[in-house]
Amino acid sequence: MAQNESTAKRQSSISSKFNQSLLTLFLVLVLALIPIMYYLTKTQVLSQANKELTLLVDMVKSVRNVVREDTRPHFTPKGEFFPIVVSSTVMAKTVASKFARIRPEYYIKIFSDNPLNADDYPDSLETELLGRFRQNKRLKTIVETGTIRGQNYLLSSAPATVKKGCLLCHGDPARAPLAISKKYGTESGYGWTVGNVIGGIAVGVPLDNINAIAVKRTLFALLALAVVFGVLYIYINTIVRRSIITPITEIAEKAQKISHGDLGDAIVTDRDDEIGELANSFEMMRRSFISLVRRIKANNT
Ligand code: HEC
Repeated sequence: MAQNESTAKRQSSISSKFNQSLLTLFLVLVLALIPIMYYLTKTQVLSQANKELTLLVDMVKSVRNVVREDTRPHFTPKGEFFPIVVSSTVMAKTVASKFARIRPEYYIKIFSDNPLNADDYPDSLETELLGRFRQNKRLKTIVETGTIRGQNYLLSSAPATVKKGCLLCHGDPARAPLAISKKYGTESGYGWTVGNVIGGIAVGVPLDNINAIAVKRTLFALLALAVVFGVLYIYINTIVRRSIITPITEIAEKAQKISHGDLGDAIVTDRDDEIGELANSFEMMRRSFISLVRRIKANNT
């Protein structure tokens, strides 16, 4: 019984050393996994959103260029001020509102804090962007993440600077095209000054919830890691038991017999590693004991 107990203790101490190292390695990997997964997810989500964003921004630019290059030069010389064909802003706003019907998850807004259309007042994030554009006139675009009405976006924004041509509709309300003062009144959206940043455009693509994706991926990676380590645990423990603990226990039992004077049991091994060496040393010791005992007996008779 006592022998069994000590065997169990030996067995547990060798494998527990292996298991401890395995567990430490597992924990280190788990700890490293969390920031790595978060970083990878964030980079991937942002670069995906960035691709979409540049596409959308360029599309909006192209829409505005249609007015600047194609319709406006055709209509203004004739004195026609139908807004959608002379104002790239009105064209962009109209396209954006139609686009929003098909793809409501994207965000396109042209805003001003002195707008013709009351819908175009900036929200809090846009007010902050407007402030930054006004403070630094050389700032041409800001790309960063932001939250609008509870949704996370990757936003690209640019300032709208008043040029001479704008004053036709946004200058003196008394001289603005009748269609405009009739539709929007004469209170707001006029009196702009050339060179001022009067508003801006914000284009946003929805950002998936980085944290939620990162958590999901981390859990998945943890599961995979746990499976790998589980298999490794079983494999290593089997190997350790089979090739180290069991043979050492056998040698120890035989050595114990020798110490009790039972010299008849040979210690045989076919291994040529350290355990084989240990077994052979015990076997040599056993044989030396036998010849020693014989010599002593011979001397005594
Ligand atoms: C032909 C008239 C016309 C001209 C010229 C014009 N706009 Fe406008 N603009 C409008 C109208 C009409 C709206 C309102 C559209 C709507 O209902 O949303 C508007 C809206 C805007 C808005 C959104 C805020 C608001 O007032 O509702 C901005 C910003 C803007 N224009 C900037 C400009 C700039 C900058 C220029 C010159 C480069 C310019 N506009 C030239 C007619 C014009």
